Amino acid sequence: MEKQRLDRFLSNQTGMSRSVVRTGIRRGFAYVNGDAVKDAAYIIDPSSDKIDYDGESVEYKEFVYIILNKPSGIISASRDKSRKTVLDLVPESLKRRDLSVVGRLDKDTTGLLLITDDGEFAHKCISPKSKIEKSYIVTLDSDINADAVDEFAKGVVLADGYKCKPAVLEILAKNKARVIITEGKYHQIKRMFGVFGLGVEGLHRERIGTLILPDNLLFGECQEINKTTALRIN
Ligand code: URA
Repeated sequence: MEKQRLDRFLSNQTGMSRSVVRTGIRRGFAYVNGDAVKDAAYIIDPSSDKIDYDGESVEYKEFVYIILNKPSGIISASRDKSRKTVLDLVPESLKRRDLSVVGRLDKDTTGLLLITDDGEFAHKCISPKSKIEKSYIVTLDSDINADAVDEFAKGVVLADGYKCKPAVLEILAKNKARVIITEGKYHQIKRMFGVFGLGVEGLHRERIGTLILPDNLLFGECQEINKTTALRIN
């Protein structure tokens, strides 16, 4: 890990802006190995120096990996000028400067969403080459015909002519199913069921690759996962 300025380190690790951090440092909030440091440009070695800010130890982590149980009604964009986004649900302790959402869920879709500042990892996850499975529980506005199972397995042809990759459809009840897809086209699942004349009334993502939404994570709650767990996603 490269040596770096104290203000840069604190800003990256806490998500606070550089100017807020500089003011804090000037006011004596920052300690390096137990000594107060009031110079924002002071050079630290994150791998060996012990840094405290405002009474709290600031541990060095190159990246953070967060899972969120997305509630309905919130957009999953990383940034929006006026509307609240899922990033507003990330607690201060996990906030980082470059956090972004890995893939999108529709505003009315609930469930597992991954958030990270590891751009390379995020890119790999959403790359069409990754083929990471995404599993959803779908509630439909009318009953599903069992013939749809084979059609999903063959690859549903959407209204615009796009042929989806083979998907798993498991019928759980008359109007409820589990769907597993390995791609992420716009409104994909809603459009797949649309081909069969079915409307989606509820869509909930329960799994991305090896990451399963924990039962105890309530809507709107986040949980940090470690890097090893995140990188094992497929
Ligand atoms: N497919 C959809 O139609 N919507 C989502 O949010 C995710 C998958």
